Amino acid sequence: MRERTLILIKPDAINRGLAGEIISRFEKKGLKIVGMKMMKMSEEKAREHYSHHVGKPFYPDLEKFMTSMPIIALVVEGRNAVDVVRRIVGSTNGREAEPGSIRGDYSMSVSKNLIHASDSKENAEKEIKRFFKEDELFDYRLAYEDFLYASDE
Ligand code: RTP
Ligand code: MG
Repeated sequence: MRERTLILIKPDAINRGLAGEIISRFEKKGLKIVGMKMMKMSEEKAREHYSHHVGKPFYPDLEKFMTSMPIIALVVEGRNAVDVVRRIVGSTNGREAEPGSIRGDYSMSVSKNLIHASDSKENAEKEIKRFFKEDELFDYRLAYEDFLYASDE
């Protein structure tokens, strides 16, 4: 029920002043922020996080980009949070992403696509542990929590 997923706001989003807009979209949708911090991604963490791309021609640029400036890491929670967040983010290539999604509205690029979101429940659990310690995640109650977790289907 309380599904959680990892979101990374990438350096291009911070550079373009889009961090607030991006966070706001998740908040307005009704996802609950349970962790958030600004941090520098180490080269080691980049290799772990993008292990499926290590060795590909674009990997050196990807690593350089992701470690060049701070990122903002977020954990959000809600019913089907992994899938809901992926749809809000949109597909990888900003030029093909659906209008209305974050990438569809604000990105014209594959490499500078503003945001990362976990692509499965299993990866979300691994990625949350990669970026957050247990005591950096918060368990608290919102006034509208019954709405967030109601089993209405
Ligand atoms: P993400 O992991 O960042 O949420 O993106 P994704 O699932 O939509 O895409 P994925 O295939 O996991 O790729 C991870 C990130 O690598 C960069 N990329 N660059 N230049 C290229 O051809 C290329 N392909 C992938 C993108 O920044 C993508 O978000
Ligand atoms: Mg991915």
